[in-house]
Amino acid sequence: MSFKASVLTLYPDMFPGTLGQALAGKALTSGAWSLEVTQIRDFATDRHRSVDDTPAGGGAGMVLRPDILARAVDHVSPADDQRPRLLMSPRGKTLTQQMVRDLAAGPGAVIICGRFEGVDERVIEARQLTEVSIGDYVLSGGEVAAQVLLDAVIRLLPGVMGNAQSGLTESFETGLLEHPHYTRPAEWEGRTIPDVLTSGNHAKIEDWRREQSETLTKARRPDLACVTVPLTEADRSDLERLETSLWVAESRFNNTYMDAIFAADFIEFGCSGRRYKRDELLFSAGERQEIEARLPLANLHLHPLDATTVQVSYVSEVRYGEAVQRCNRSSIWSRGGKHGWQLRFHQGTPVFDAERNV
Ligand SMILES: C[S@@+](CC[C@H](N)C(=O)[O-])C[C@H]1O[C@@H](n2cnc3c(N)ncnc32)[C@H](O)[C@@H]1O
Repeated sequence: MSFKASVLTLYPDMFPGTLGQALAGKALTSGAWSLEVTQIRDFATDRHRSVDDTPAGGGAGMVLRPDILARAVDHVSPADDQRPRLLMSPRGKTLTQQMVRDLAAGPGAVIICGRFEGVDERVIEARQLTEVSIGDYVLSGGEVAAQVLLDAVIRLLPGVMGNAQSGLTESFETGLLEHPHYTRPAEWEGRTIPDVLTSGNHAKIEDWRREQSETLTKARRPDLACVTVPLTEADRSDLERLETSLWVAESRFNNTYMDAIFAADFIEFGCSGRRYKRDELLFSAGERQEIEARLPLANLHLHPLDATTVQVSYVSEVRYGEAVQRCNRSSIWSRGGKHGWQLRFHQGTPVFDAERNV
């Protein structure tokens, strides 16, 4: 069953509007989505077909009546309709790519386009309308806003976008703004394409794009830079391997390796509460010791903190002679350095063993 959009408006001629053209228009013709447009005025009862009235308590403008709008909503969306009922409104939750994705995964949407000063609050409550805004500015009506929302949703519907991959790398899909793009000619008005993009080295190109995305996001949208980015499988296995390497003698006592692992500002709080800086944790050659840690690390979890930082938590179990010490561990890794990640912080808190009272 394809995505069904039901739009309620006082200006039905505004639809499909922009949605009848290009990608959305082709998708409409192909049946990837369907559009039903309803004139709210058809549900008025007086001979002037009026739909609005003056605001209770006085003030400027007119208000869309609840009884008329409710009749229109009930006509297109009976009580068992599974589709969300959205009221385009500057008071609503601002439309995000996540909301767009959720809508595209569903059966469709009932979209009410407001006009005048607003809509009677009682119909919003009684028909469980979710208010959605397209940004912090005021339009003269909800029709353009509804088309913005639908345009964003339609391009994500199955089979609509030619190159599915392009949808996955776009701005917001990864929690970051997209990297810059270039195409031919290789030189234009004295400006060239960054060398890395013509190097043919795909790993380097990926790194460059990610770095550009992160820099752009931090500069232009610091609010987004706080959004956590899902870790890739490669990130997960790298971080598990790196954290485990802290408990393996061959790597832990290899100074060259650890020097590249510790970030310049690395700090550790040991189980005793003592604070260590990076240089205090590098061992001199020949000072190699043994570590008897239980591997794999128990209860290991990765928590992305922002686009470039991940917290790793787990329980360490280390044998010292006869005694076994269990600690809750927390590490902070940031992207960068020779191994892809650098350790910024490491901490251990002894786990109290109630049975042995230690
Ligand atoms: C003139 S506006 C009403 C503004 C309202 N008095 C307020 O201050 O919140 C008329 C209609 O345009 C639509 N609209 C205006 N700005 C919008 C926005 N940023 N996002 C979504 N819809 C908007 C809504 O449907 C609204 O009911």
